[in-house]
Amino acid sequence: MTRTTDTDWWRSAVIYQIYPRSYADGNGDGIGDLAGIRDRLSHLRALGVDAVWLSPWYVSPMADAGYDIADYRDIDPVFGTLAEAESLIAEAEAQGLKIIVDMVPNHCSDRHPWFRAALEAGPGSPERQRFHFRPGRGEQGDLPPNNWQSHFGGPAWTQVADGEWYLHMFAPQQPDWNWQHPHVKAEFESVLRFWLDRGVAGFRIDVADHLVKAAGLPETTMLPAGAVRPWRDQEGVHDIYRRWRRILDEYPGHRVFVAELWDDDPDRFSRYLRPDELHSAFNFPLLQSPWDADALRNVVDTTLAAHARVGAPATWVLSNHDTTRHVTRYGRTDTSYALDGRRVHHAPVDLDLGTRRARAAALLNLALPGSAYIYQGEELGLWEVEDIPLNLRQDPTLRQSGGTDPGRDGCRVPLPWADEAPPFAFSPPSTGTEPWLPQPPAWKDHTVAAQDNDPGSMLELYRTALRIRTGHPDLGDGTLAWLPAPEGVLAFTRSSAFACVVNLSSQPEPLPAHTRQLLTSVPLDDGMLPTDAAAWLELL
Ligand code: NOJ
Repeated sequence: MTRTTDTDWWRSAVIYQIYPRSYADGNGDGIGDLAGIRDRLSHLRALGVDAVWLSPWYVSPMADAGYDIADYRDIDPVFGTLAEAESLIAEAEAQGLKIIVDMVPNHCSDRHPWFRAALEAGPGSPERQRFHFRPGRGEQGDLPPNNWQSHFGGPAWTQVADGEWYLHMFAPQQPDWNWQHPHVKAEFESVLRFWLDRGVAGFRIDVADHLVKAAGLPETTMLPAGAVRPWRDQEGVHDIYRRWRRILDEYPGHRVFVAELWDDDPDRFSRYLRPDELHSAFNFPLLQSPWDADALRNVVDTTLAAHARVGAPATWVLSNHDTTRHVTRYGRTDTSYALDGRRVHHAPVDLDLGTRRARAAALLNLALPGSAYIYQGEELGLWEVEDIPLNLRQDPTLRQSGGTDPGRDGCRVPLPWADEAPPFAFSPPSTGTEPWLPQPPAWKDHTVAAQDNDPGSMLELYRTALRIRTGHPDLGDGTLAWLPAPEGVLAFTRSSAFACVVNLSSQPEPLPAHTRQLLTSVPLDDGMLPTDAAAWLELL
């Protein structure tokens, strides 16, 4: 099956997330860049993915690692140039890889020219109306306009020199756009076209449910319990995406949207995926689920039912640049994951156990119906780096949470490519620069070179799984049927010919009748599937 030429390629695609700062450094400054990505596209081809999603590469002061954009139509010099981005898109396409770029429409950078203009123009000016500026409360106006809190901690409002306050749901350097304003709507439509004209295959939409705020920006204290929060998931956001969809559909080549949506209500979630809105959205409940058969099965059922209602394919994702790497999560006693300032840090972790489960989870993830995402480094079995010294940490969440949240640097450490010691060929030889975050010396056994051709490595497991998936007509988009299975075991078919079995029980379990083992995450134990292992079976 050649997914990349299919009109519906995105329904089955395996998409690899590149975090540009940490993928590969081409110019030797210790920070990943477009030259590094272009040099290392061969890794993605050998892995066998269909597309790449790149976290933001735009001009940015990097207050939030590029999610604070000062110019949506150019590349930050730390990553390269617009010409290099164009070359990257073309080279990737020539190698059968589609490029999806990040779009950040909820907020920009406080260095964006429109925000600078708003600051200069002063209270009551038309320039301020493109953002959410308000007078403060209290006699002196020195209290924030409402009680909303930033997702990174602290009030979601910052006061400027003339006394007004502006809204930022993330860092103070990330003012929220006012999506009621026609200029904002027109500007983003133009930015979408700018990148579509340059051949991107689509967009990942950052905090896709946040764009429209409830009228009047009401205090949450006035809301009934369980009501939708006023800073997200407002009805008007769907009009924006209907409009965006029409723009995308004007372009040839089946371009797509994938929304970042942290919403645990499957009905509200699936509304974004109605046929005239977005194509797909990250399905985070799998990532948040504990390593437990009942919990996972419940996530799969709920997910598939929600997507079926709107005819959209599910997506499956185990890690990304915001979440604790799953080797670490699965090696802890509590294997579940919660977002927003409740990131666990330094809980005891058994990395061997986490790795074993991650291998099984990879086979589960890649066998489920729909498309799948791989976060750079998960194919190498990398774990969360929890001992980065505080003074080297860069994620604003650490400071903004008052230190209660360690931040996300631990999953953003530069990739190890080769060699016995840091920088593990992340930077070109003999530049002598240190990577922007320190790599653990123990990653010498986890480099691409160390794992290449080692049949027991995580990298070869991923390569084999992707090869089988690409060649198997029943994997990717479609449905599943659960097989009867012992307690603690997940077993399902994707057709009468393919089954996936995952053993989360505490003892080896028998496999269903099959004609051939296509792939197992660990060797079988006397024909039985060991604990924390998975198998792909041919049934006919
Ligand atoms: C979600 C992104 O994935 C995250 O990295 C970023 O900090 C926030 N949105 C704000 O843009």
